[in-house]
Amino acid sequence: MKYSAISQDPLQLKADCLIVGVYEKGSLTEAAKALDASTNGLLNKLIQQGDLDGKLASTTWLYDCGSAASARALIVGLGEPAKLNENNFRKAIQAATNALKNSQVKQAVSCLVQAEVPNRDTTWKTRFHVETSAASLYRYDATKSEKAKPLNLTELQLAVAPADQAQAEKAITVGSAIAKGVAVTRELGNLPGNICTPTYLAEQGQALASTYDKIATKVLDEKDMKELGMGALLAVSAGSDEPAKLVIMEYKGGDANQAPHVIVGKGITFDTGGISLKPGAEMDEMKYDMCGAASVIGTLTALAEMNAPINVVGIITSAENMPSGKATKPGDIVTTMSGQTVEILNTDAEGRLVLCDALTYAERFNPASVVDIATLTGACVIALGHHATGLMANDEELAQKLLQAGIEAHDRAWQLPLWEDYQSSLESNFADLPNIGGRPAGTITAACFLSRFTKKYKWAHLDIAGTAWVSGKEKGASGRPVPLLTQYLLNQAGQ
Ligand code: BES
Ligand code: MN
Ligand code: ZN
Repeated sequence: MKYSAISQDPLQLKADCLIVGVYEKGSLTEAAKALDASTNGLLNKLIQQGDLDGKLASTTWLYDCGSAASARALIVGLGEPAKLNENNFRKAIQAATNALKNSQVKQAVSCLVQAEVPNRDTTWKTRFHVETSAASLYRYDATKSEKAKPLNLTELQLAVAPADQAQAEKAITVGSAIAKGVAVTRELGNLPGNICTPTYLAEQGQALASTYDKIATKVLDEKDMKELGMGALLAVSAGSDEPAKLVIMEYKGGDANQAPHVIVGKGITFDTGGISLKPGAEMDEMKYDMCGAASVIGTLTALAEMNAPINVVGIITSAENMPSGKATKPGDIVTTMSGQTVEILNTDAEGRLVLCDALTYAERFNPASVVDIATLTGACVIALGHHATGLMANDEELAQKLLQAGIEAHDRAWQLPLWEDYQSSLESNFADLPNIGGRPAGTITAACFLSRFTKKYKWAHLDIAGTAWVSGKEKGASGRPVPLLTQYLLNQAGQ
């Protein structure tokens, strides 16, 4: 798909399809007014007849554009003007893109950026349009015998005012790069656990290095982990025939002397719970337990695609959590790379175990900041549902930067307290700390566990258990929080 910005009069453009927005109760956007004029008042006539109501995300085709140059028009309902927030703007773009997807249109011009969204400028709306359209065009077919038919649609032009052309072009570059990162993350998430293994993730990390000059990848195997003393990571992998991998991907887009930002992703390619076996219902969804890792690959993809001037180290800490004769048992005690010993009271609290050694490993980069991303706790889904990513940090400034980036990218997080008060739930009679805290505040106590390994740098934790994928009929990975992470890193680069 090719996305571009144009600032000519869209009515004069010879397009396969012109997309215009209409509000509920019949008020027209500028482009819709112009189309109405070119068609002798057809839009107003349709409104009067009750054939066009502007309801949010409704779509109406016009197969004759009168004196306008386009072959067809697609009229998209924007709903009530006062209610046109980011989510409703997204719904309108999704509806338009889905209508195009199932049509003969090869090239379209969208005027939807004209719609007013409070506190959002043309640049933002252009970028969001690209991200949303690209996400609507994503189709998973990797493991289906029948492949998706190639789309008729190959080009989408976004109409903006001449004064906004240059900014809109930049927004399209950024939006396309983020869209690509999101698609990569969704695809990896959606792949089943028998294909997307730790070794497969490591190969994807290596593939990044061959695709992008500015990325260098190193893969540590279990022998390397033993030498480094990564007893926690190895304990998770112990029950599996799939070897664990630690993948380190360095993106060098900034000055050589600039301290890197580190992002660390949980990459449990399948979480059975181990000996603390999970119940059977919906266990298939635990293939998504590597979505943190996938978001690291996606974010690096986005940064490399847009050539962002920043240094970022992406780390994937990957294993498969299985029960077997070699598996770690409740009560087993391991020594982490940090030297702290951990009593593994529940083998299903494995995410923090693979993360803690990776977080210790991150110290060697003298990082400007470290953010880990993990489908860490079911408790986070209970606390925040599927809309907000959980955020906890040992540095308030970093927390605010991430929250802000989430608002900017409309990929939002919500902060939970990481007060000292919660630390007392982590006490063991037999080791320095246990790997579980107990039922209350499970998301926070998981972060407390991680905080014992992040004392040497500014650190934040994103719990994406509720946001990384969608369940039910539309089951699939969301690609979150790639927009948030990319925005945060771009902001750090001063972009
Ligand atoms: N990967 C799960 C968390 C999870 C569960 C994410 C459901 C999304 C949906 C994690 O490894 C886990 O099993 N956590 C346990 C921790 C508990 C044993 C302290 C949980 O949340 O039940
Ligand atoms: Mn688990
Ligand atoms: Zn897990």
